[in-house]
Amino acid sequence: MIANILRVETLNTDSYEYSNMTPDATIDRRSYLKAVGAVGATGAVAGCTGSGDGEDGEDDGTEVINPGTAPGFPPFEYTEDGELVGFDVDLAEAAIERAGYEVGEWTEIEFDSLIPSLTQGNLDLIAAAMTINEERQQQIAFTDPYYESDQAVLVAEDSDLSPESVDDLADQRVGAQSGTTGQDEVDTLVDDGIVSADDTRQYDNYTLGVQDLENGNVDALIIDIPVAQNFADGRAVSIAFTIETGEVYGMGMRQDDDRLADINDALAELQDDGTYDELVAEWFE
Ligand code: ARG
Repeated sequence: MIANILRVETLNTDSYEYSNMTPDATIDRRSYLKAVGAVGATGAVAGCTGSGDGEDGEDDGTEVINPGTAPGFPPFEYTEDGELVGFDVDLAEAAIERAGYEVGEWTEIEFDSLIPSLTQGNLDLIAAAMTINEERQQQIAFTDPYYESDQAVLVAEDSDLSPESVDDLADQRVGAQSGTTGQDEVDTLVDDGIVSADDTRQYDNYTLGVQDLENGNVDALIIDIPVAQNFADGRAVSIAFTIETGEVYGMGMRQDDDRLADINDALAELQDDGTYDELVAEWFE
């Protein structure tokens, strides 16, 4: 059931580190959460604190979950006509409501401010195509994975550069959004002596990076495949090659927030009843 919630990117053909660790239906969600180190999913009685039964919106016990994201990452989260839209926005709202909670105000901030804002209590749930990794799990808990992706290397359409592997990025200017796993890949290029630290660029969001790519101010951007694909469809950029990272996205919650179990149940339900597939069709196909 949980493995089914993963959306496998069509550009990827090889196996995934995470999906190999991802249980099939024979392993229950609690074990999986334990396996990936997410703690705090202790609430076995779903809805015991969350379901409001009044319609008047007051004193009915419905708890609010305030979501937060970092727009500029289409089709997961971006601004259209001044409005926050995207797959994550719809999926998070559907999960919060299905779990019996009320969707609060969305916070829109830079990606690397999301975890501090969550732990400080300024928001309750991160829905930002955030990759589950150990470093982040030391600070926050993640829901079960809901999407799967590798990284792509994006170049300008009219570029002379047509790299086919990381080695072809030697001495090029390479960028990513600050605090992302794309930036981790850029850092690896520096550590491996392929790219000089002076030639790396960090962007507050990928929209700025794509602009720099189109304007010739950077030679390559490292970015999640589905988002690279989205930019390639509408902008003067194209995917040169991909880097297999085996990442999966989860929504983030505080480690002591026992509503996490309810959100996981809701995500599984949305998968089972076809809502998840409808959202995928709406935003990706
Ligand atoms: N999946 C990548 C990560 O977790 C990139 C996420 C960027 N998300 C965003 N909303 N800008 O680091």
